[in-house]
Amino acid sequence: MKKLLICTAILAATAALAQESAPSREGGYGLGRPALTEEIAAWDIDIRPDGLGLPVGSGDVWTGEELFVDQCSACHGDFGEAVGRWPILAGGFGSLDQEDPVKTVGSYWPYLSTVWDYVHRAMPYGNAQSLTDDEVYAITAYLMYLNNMVDDDFELSNENFLEIPMPNEAGFFMDDRDTVELPEFMAEPCMTGCAEGVEITMRAAVLDVTPETATDAAEEQAEPETAADPAASGPSPELVAAGESVFRQCSSCHQIGEGARNGAGPVLNGIVGMAAGQAEGFRYSPAMAQSGIVWDEATLAEFLADPRGYLRGNRMGFGGLRSEEDIAAVIAYMQVAGAP
Ligand code: HEC
Ligand code: HEC
Repeated sequence: MKKLLICTAILAATAALAQESAPSREGGYGLGRPALTEEIAAWDIDIRPDGLGLPVGSGDVWTGEELFVDQCSACHGDFGEAVGRWPILAGGFGSLDQEDPVKTVGSYWPYLSTVWDYVHRAMPYGNAQSLTDDEVYAITAYLMYLNNMVDDDFELSNENFLEIPMPNEAGFFMDDRDTVELPEFMAEPCMTGCAEGVEITMRAAVLDVTPETATDAAEEQAEPETAADPAASGPSPELVAAGESVFRQCSSCHQIGEGARNGAGPVLNGIVGMAAGQAEGFRYSPAMAQSGIVWDEATLAEFLADPRGYLRGNRMGFGGLRSEEDIAAVIAYMQVAGAP
């Protein structure tokens, strides 16, 4: 209930932001109030690459240098060269195709709007959003100067903001090769009859996504069983017991132990240590019969994790066991229950 209230509050707030004077919903929830114009303005500070969102203002390189030395150089160095491990803001040209590329405003960033937006929004670190708009213009001009984009008499303003190209602008372009997502995204999406037919490949009951009993659910919640104690000679009784419960996912097709008979799947007696495809009277797929696999803990673990992926063309209609614990447990169980 608490969660639900928070969600509706957020929804109401978002709706209010989007449409200032609109009622939250017919009848309303009795929550929140329309956001004030000032609140929206404080939140809506992003600057787009095309300059949309830039406030009117200006600042020059010299003013920017003073501000930068004062407020930024303790971390970024007087010339953007960085102090210690703080980010470097200038230089790095021609380093992008090297093993350790130096990505700076000059060598890497494609849009000047990101510099303005970032400094305005997030710097100086620890005292974010303390700079005036003109100060941000001046600092941005100084960062351009440090990156050899302008001379020291340059003044940046909202009017000439897009005039100076960023050095690495051309390094960013749409990748429209057939092998990437773009053509896929641009294609007309299929809206009706898109799949050729639906085939049921697995039943939830077999996949065991739904616990059959309360005990199953409790067991799934419980701490996972870990591998057998290496000091003991065989698998631990706990592991075998856990495996017996996992084996319920197999028992619709497989029998094991005294008097076991082939069903949808072969009898699994003696399976650990045996070559694949040996159960008498069972009609294996050619893939399984000719696989040459010998079932040991390693091959069984791989097979049970992904039966179809492990051996193409085999006919075991089982999606696989997701947890390593379950796999180890069921192998231990088969070892004990199927022992001659
Ligand atoms: C106390 C140290 C500190 C101060 C002072 C500081 N910064 Fe930063 N700056 C950082 C840190 C840390 C980051 C990286 C933040 C991150 O990646 O989340 C950063 C990142 C940046 C970046 C982006 C770098 C990149 O390539 O990602 C810019 C641009 C920048 N700062 C500009 C400034 C400016 C301009 C000032 C002064 C107004 C300033 N910083 C003051 C610590 C500082
Ligand atoms: C939907 C029925 C079905 C389920 C469920 C199922 N199996 Fe199978 N299993 C088969 C079939 C069918 C084969 C024979 C595959 C072939 O011939 O390609 C097989 C083969 C095997 C083999 C190889 C046997 C051999 O003689 O080489 C092992 C081991 C095995 N299953 C273990 C398991 C375990 C463990 C589970 C449960 C975690 C399980 N299976 C769940 C149907 C199933």
